[in-house]
Amino acid sequence: MNILLFSFPEAVALTNKLQAHLNAEFGLFQVRDFPDGETYVRIDSDVTYKTVFIVCYLDHPNTKALTLMFMARTLKALGAKNVILVAPYLPYMRQDKQFHPGEAITSIQFAEWLSSIVDGLITIDPHLHRIKQLTDIYPISVITLHAIKPISEWIKQHVSNPLIVGPDEESFQWVKMIADELGAPCVVSKKTRHGDRDITIEFPVINDKHLTPVIVDDIISTGTSMAKIAEQLLMQTLSPPICIGIHALFSHDAYDHLLNAGVKEIVTCNTIPHVTNQIDISAILVDGMSQLVNVN
Ligand code: R5P
Repeated sequence: MNILLFSFPEAVALTNKLQAHLNAEFGLFQVRDFPDGETYVRIDSDVTYKTVFIVCYLDHPNTKALTLMFMARTLKALGAKNVILVAPYLPYMRQDKQFHPGEAITSIQFAEWLSSIVDGLITIDPHLHRIKQLTDIYPISVITLHAIKPISEWIKQHVSNPLIVGPDEESFQWVKMIADELGAPCVVSKKTRHGDRDITIEFPVINDKHLTPVIVDDIISTGTSMAKIAEQLLMQTLSPPICIGIHALFSHDAYDHLLNAGVKEIVTCNTIPHVTNQIDISAILVDGMSQLVNVN
């Protein structure tokens, strides 16, 4: 067996699905905390000359980064041919420029660091805005996958007469593709961000009140973007919107905040585990993993 899957504990359910589709075995390892809080890592499988995937949800990246580094570097030191990170959600993509003097451009620094510990990266819908493609900042093999098809499929099965709504200009990329897949109308608002939870939205007038608004965004973090759009839609007497997020970050009370904004339903992809996960992206990941295995 030349492919091994090493799963972070919380990603085991997802890794099981991947394993079922790939000719792969689970890699065995131990991770535990020493009493002082430092991390102990031991790889128990023979990884020599093997392609090794590490499956890790990278939300809250600061709490996982060191363990990931210890694992990746140990796998490499033990002779793995390729160490490839499967991170369905790629963090640190939003601070992609210096907005104010003295700020760290963490997108670039994180990319440099991650590229120094793994040979390849597979991810889904990273937040590409000013950085146009991941390979602009990641000098390793990268596969960027998209959740457009399963999202469109979910909408097709659950919503009649959808109007696909994007919160901001960046969202146009996936909003347009989903609308085209469905043959549905779409609209994108203009968002200005003044702070983490302080945004203003300019939303066009929707004349057809029979449409069912489906707000689609890549990330739901504080939920403010979606809540503000919901407010605008309700003010225009449209029906309560369905909110679809690819990456369910939901910081602090974001989930309740969004539910209380009068939305009909909140649905996300399982790129980060959350009670709202309804759209399965494992088949997309299998495609990406197969592509990388065939290249290397
Ligand atoms: C940023 O531009 C992203 O595409 C999302 O719109 C944003 O991260 C959502 O954040 P929040 O849920 O905090 O409004």
